[in-house]
Amino acid sequence: MKTPFIFGKLAKESNFTDRTDETQHLVTNFKALINTILISPRRWGKSSLVYKAAQIAKKEDSSLRICMVDLFNVRTEEQFYTALAQSVIASTESKWQEALANATRFLSRFVPKVSFAGDSMTEITVDLNMEELRRNPDEILDLAEKIATEKKVRIIVCIDEFQNIANFDDPLAFQRKLRAHWQQHQNVGYCLYGSKRHMMMEVFTDYSMPFYKFGELMFLDKIATPEWVHFISSTFSETGKHISDKLCESIVSFADNHPYYVQQLSQQVWLRTEVDATEEIVCEAHSDIIAQLGLMFDNLTQTLTNGQICLLRAMSAGEKSLTSKAVMDKYNLSSPTMISRARKALVEKDILDYIGGVYSFQDPMYAYWMKHQYFRL
Ligand SMILES: Nc1ncnc2c1ncn2[C@@H]1O[C@H](COP(=O)(O)OP(=O)(O)OP(=O)(O)O)[C@@H](O)[C@H]1O
Ligand SMILES: [Mg+2]
Repeated sequence: MKTPFIFGKLAKESNFTDRTDETQHLVTNFKALINTILISPRRWGKSSLVYKAAQIAKKEDSSLRICMVDLFNVRTEEQFYTALAQSVIASTESKWQEALANATRFLSRFVPKVSFAGDSMTEITVDLNMEELRRNPDEILDLAEKIATEKKVRIIVCIDEFQNIANFDDPLAFQRKLRAHWQQHQNVGYCLYGSKRHMMMEVFTDYSMPFYKFGELMFLDKIATPEWVHFISSTFSETGKHISDKLCESIVSFADNHPYYVQQLSQQVWLRTEVDATEEIVCEAHSDIIAQLGLMFDNLTQTLTNGQICLLRAMSAGEKSLTSKAVMDKYNLSSPTMISRARKALVEKDILDYIGGVYSFQDPMYAYWMKHQYFRL
């Protein structure tokens, strides 16, 4: 039997749960070409949500094309233009002959070399002349609009891991260029998303930045406990196993509702369960996951300064008023300035999150490991 529960891949079909409102909202934005910026911490389900909404929007509106660009391995502007051109070409045609004709026609200046692997349009590669690209990338930024206008279709360009543009040589100039072009598009909408929450916030909510008010900001929440309980228990039942609601709740609580970890822990419990899940199985599965991640957590912790570790210790102990004299003395926190510097650095390292005025650990397993194994509190 195929193992249910997946993690580390897009959650699709029966593996995708809840998010009804967010999905509907995104579908509406796609159909209305409303630019949307989707922000959440790592692995909360952004990519899965966009994929799901894209499938529905496409089905409901036959004039809509969805162009998916993933910047996960894109480090330079040239790579960005190539990835964008490639996805626009691949998403606007369903036959390779037409894709080739479009590439030749709309990208002629860049002397495109197009290759296909298999029949799938997702395996199309477009190579562009780098010198020309450096000289005049603007055409690529308008490619989607040009094709949409000419072919009388509408396009949603979805750009995943958008935070990677921060690695380009001059990110600010690049953002200015994108915005100048994209805000003029009439037949193309943009959905930009990424997991470096603090960077995404800076790019899209700071009024001095080019992308300020570019589109609607959507903050993804975690999935609520009752949805998870229903999802876990019905997935067990469908595969001939049983788990009580109480144990489902403890899985969700160990994972702090974090979608990736709820799926991972559920899978580990499922694999260990013959017929009926028990509390011992849940605890054992959780300990195993912590043990597997231990080495990585250890390495991560070694990159931290003493001040940052003192701060994490106070947080792990549940201290709330970190700047009170008693707490600062107890945990060796030298000054409020030092605390705010350490917090900022930990947010930039993706260890802490700052949501709704509260700092918290981003990774529930790291929080657990820190508290119980590193500090032994
Ligand atoms: N709606 C959902 N229902 C069930 N599980 C989900 C859902 N969304 C996400 N997950 C779980 O979380 C994992 C991460 O999802 P996804 O890759 O979509 O998140 P992400 O926010 O794009 O992550 P990253 O920040 O790494 O890009 C999935 O592999 C899956 O296990
Ligand atoms: Mg993602």
